[in-house]
Amino acid sequence: MKTFISKIYAYEILDSRGNPTVATQVELSDDTVATASVPSGASTGENEAVELRDADKSRFNGKGVLSAIENVNDVIARELIDKCPFNQEEIDQIMISLDGTPNKRRLGANAILSVSLAVARASAKSKKLPLFRYIGGINARTLPTPMMNIINGGAHSDAPIDIQEFMIVPKNFDSFKDKLRAGVEIFQTLKNILRKNNLSTAVGDEGGFAPNLKSNTHALDLIEQATTQAGYKFGEEVFVALDIASSEFYQDQHYVLKKSDNSKFTSSQMIDWLVKLKSQYPIISIEDGCSQNDWDGWIELTKRLGDSTQLVGDDLFVTNSTFLQKGIDLHAGNAILIKPNQIGTLSETLQTIRLAKNAGFGTIISHRSGETEDTFIADLAVATNAGQIKTGSLSRSERTAKYNRLLCIEENL
Ligand code: PGA
Ligand code: ZN
Repeated sequence: MKTFISKIYAYEILDSRGNPTVATQVELSDDTVATASVPSGASTGENEAVELRDADKSRFNGKGVLSAIENVNDVIARELIDKCPFNQEEIDQIMISLDGTPNKRRLGANAILSVSLAVARASAKSKKLPLFRYIGGINARTLPTPMMNIINGGAHSDAPIDIQEFMIVPKNFDSFKDKLRAGVEIFQTLKNILRKNNLSTAVGDEGGFAPNLKSNTHALDLIEQATTQAGYKFGEEVFVALDIASSEFYQDQHYVLKKSDNSKFTSSQMIDWLVKLKSQYPIISIEDGCSQNDWDGWIELTKRLGDSTQLVGDDLFVTNSTFLQKGIDLHAGNAILIKPNQIGTLSETLQTIRLAKNAGFGTIISHRSGETEDTFIADLAVATNAGQIKTGSLSRSERTAKYNRLLCIEENL
């Protein structure tokens, strides 16, 4: 007997910031039931697929997602019921065609992605395979290195620092479990250091600390101190990755660092500043060092740091193969952040990852600042042998859920 999709049902749930988001339940004819939910960004790229919100001020300050849910329950369900769930590309293509816009603004990328992910999860369950194995096949084997965001600035906290994410990256450890433990021990040590310095240990949106620091380099100095005190070698065992998220403060062709350093940089001054930071600290990865609208800056940045540093396009590429191809052609960046909700279907996400790998670009699977307890990205990272994952700090269950899922996968491999 052929298995087919028998029911699709979406409903409103809450994300980690308390904003509504979409969850979708998919049922198959063999009685398999699976659910997926979608995250939501705060520092979103201009070219991301559209997250449909109701804009009805009488509910959730306009952030309700009832229209996206209606699109799943009416428009999408009608077309997908009776279809084979194992043809992921066909399922995704039907939704792309139904939407008919280049950025999924009619049905909403939140509506479409929730169905796309729930269909994949139901299919894996029906085949009695772990999700990473269903998506990645027998070649899925690499646990990603975690980039753990232990200080939150920019749009993710009230801390007076412009750089959005200060991440620690353990290298040369035997297992994912050991890398995670190093991260946790440094995180806990940092907490003690902050407390001793009368700095706040409250956390930002991604679970990293958000203290009242003096400058961006103050944050880096504290991370160095915490790493050393925790017993790890800074620059040998533990490195730094930054998400500058510079599109957030790019105005009139200038980078205006107003939360902290009180500087206004031209594009080349911004690059000089990053080069200087790189010379002072063991920084191995810089995300969105230039703005999504500063392609010339990106090309220059890649010329200057591309040989020594991973340069990650998030807002620049928005998980979209068209923008990524432009970056490959222009030599802008050498790695891509992969956020499924920036593009809106699993198939297109996998397509972008394939393109990146074929071009020798690094790939980092990523959460959003507004997350749910859904751990799909952990499986996706292993399925695609992406090599790296960015899923926040070592606190807040919506972040640790992904790490815990990776621990489980490591045990099972
Ligand atoms: P966002 O931030 O989820 O708020 O967009 C994450 C990032 O910039 O990497
Ligand atoms: Zn980013």
